[in-house]
Amino acid sequence: MNQYLRILSYVKPYWKFMAGAMLCMVCFAVTSSATVWVALPFFQTLFGEEEAPTVQIGPITDSAARLEARTGLVGLREALKQKTNELIVRPTKEATLLRLCVIIFIVLVIKNLSGYFQAFLMAYAENGVIRDLRNHIYTHLHRLSLSYFHQERTGELISRISYDVMKINGTISAAFGTLIKEPLLILVHLAIIIILSWQLTLMSFILLPFSILIITTVGKKLRKSSTISQEAMADLTSTLQETVAGIRVVKAFSMESFEIRKFQRQTNAYFKSLLRLTQMHNLASPITETLGGVVGLSILWYGGRQVMAGDLLAPEDFLTFFLALFSMLKPIKELGQVNNRIQEGIAAADRVFEILDTVPEIVDAPDAVDLLAMKDSIKFNRISFQYKGLAARVLEHIELTVHAGEIIAIVGPSGGGKSTLVDLVARFYDPTEGSIEIDGQDLRMVTLSSLRQQMGIVTQEVILFNDTVRNNIAYGEEKIKLDQVRSAALAANADEFIMQLPDGYDTGLGERGVRLSGGQRQRIAIARAILKDPLILILDEATSALDTESELLVQEAIDQLMKGRTAFVIAHRLSTIQNADKVIVIDHGRIVQTGTHDTLLAEDGLYQKLYQLQFRD
Ligand SMILES: Nc1ncnc2c1ncn2[C@@H]1O[C@H](COP(=O)(O)OP(=O)(O)O)[C@@H](O)[C@H]1O
Ligand SMILES: [Mg+2]
Repeated sequence: MNQYLRILSYVKPYWKFMAGAMLCMVCFAVTSSATVWVALPFFQTLFGEEEAPTVQIGPITDSAARLEARTGLVGLREALKQKTNELIVRPTKEATLLRLCVIIFIVLVIKNLSGYFQAFLMAYAENGVIRDLRNHIYTHLHRLSLSYFHQERTGELISRISYDVMKINGTISAAFGTLIKEPLLILVHLAIIIILSWQLTLMSFILLPFSILIITTVGKKLRKSSTISQEAMADLTSTLQETVAGIRVVKAFSMESFEIRKFQRQTNAYFKSLLRLTQMHNLASPITETLGGVVGLSILWYGGRQVMAGDLLAPEDFLTFFLALFSMLKPIKELGQVNNRIQEGIAAADRVFEILDTVPEIVDAPDAVDLLAMKDSIKFNRISFQYKGLAARVLEHIELTVHAGEIIAIVGPSGGGKSTLVDLVARFYDPTEGSIEIDGQDLRMVTLSSLRQQMGIVTQEVILFNDTVRNNIAYGEEKIKLDQVRSAALAANADEFIMQLPDGYDTGLGERGVRLSGGQRQRIAIARAILKDPLILILDEATSALDTESELLVQEAIDQLMKGRTAFVIAHRLSTIQNADKVIVIDHGRIVQTGTHDTLLAEDGLYQKLYQLQFRD
């Protein structure tokens, strides 16, 4: 129910549409019952005496009935009938019929108009809620930290935002549509049948539950038979698959006749289950129809006798009663299913709100200030880090100072914690212990936007968006001129191949765009970083996935990019490492060696081994 209130809070802005829809529902229900009710004078006109039915109360003879006529239900019925007759009955039968048709037509038009507007207003509100909810979730997703996206599977997230949000839609229409409209319809028709004959109504409602009970029991049995049959088929398939795949084993062990007997037992079980299912199937609809018939016939018998008795029930009342009773069946059925839809929607809402309730781990501190342009240094003060849900620390007591303009090469075995270390600089995570400071400012005390503004990141995996080359390079900077984009691309060794694309800088990339090679994608990513002109640069194995030829082009681009910036480079390329001002070797989350290429090579340590195994030129 809590979830329901929460969904309601999204409905609130659309209350006017909802109110309008409900007004239309009331109108729809009233006109629906009116179409049934005006059948009364219709039957009267059709079956009545040749003489036009006069405006008179039905055949009430004795005084007791007359008394009831003035007071009870019968009175109400006769009064209503009289009012209707006054409205409809004309001097001749033809005139009455004509007027009747005109009135029914008008009522029909009103009914359908209100039905249409109700559906439209509801759809407006529902889809508006869905739109708002999707936008809300998407906005929230962008506030969530990187770690969230590692925990959640992408497919799961997408299904929640597209499919589950849609399911919530069903809950809204169930609550505001079905739960209001169908009971209203049931109510007005119920009123009609009670007014027409409370005795018949009573009888119908005693018989109805019985038949509904039997019909649902038959339905359950049918579903169960169907499950049993599906399971039998699954057994069969798996035996088939196992023995065909493992035919070598079957033959080697001479188990053919054993397997054949097993298979025959299973086909036989399937055969029996199918027979039973067919039997249930073929029984279900006769049972349903017979039961429906019994209910209908009982009413017919009981009511028919009352009609024949003369005074008890007028024939047109009886017919109208039947009409109204049958008009109730559909609303009752709908109402029976509404719970399912609501439950489904609530379950979907659980999953959707779970996203919304996830608190982002990395947020601006309340008193966060903007980080000024880095001038001096980045300091790691004995930081340690542990991923959530992981038993061991990934980084341990890292002490490091990087001065502005320095290039730091980070090397080490895979899984040692290199990527994690640079992720901490961009504050994708916060250290579990210690702190990172830029110019003496703790990263946790500065705004994320000002920090990442100064940060350029190029990784092994390049993400290109479904947009033009130009917009992919200028990502986020809408007002940038083509000249600037081009000079960035030039510096990134990318201009040449871009100019050869079908539409040059306006060529579409991404899923539905042109296919680029790994080196070309990488150079676009580098152009993106050059254009951003960051003070701090992070290159995480940016060239690892490339072949030697494109690596050269990319390497040139990277050298260009690193000029005059503070750079963290994770690489295996010897020239990159040699160019670095400082090389740190990370193994099992610890800095095991620090120095330059030359000093480290002279040491007897991990670096020597890496040099022989990993580094290439
Ligand atoms: N998002 C993550 N969640 C949990 N563990 C992670 C995550 N990313 C990396 N790790 C683990 O942290 C350790 C260091 O990983 P990483 O920093 O990527 O190493 P490197 O970049 O040196 O190969 C590895 O054991 C890896 O399995
Ligand atoms: Mg890595």
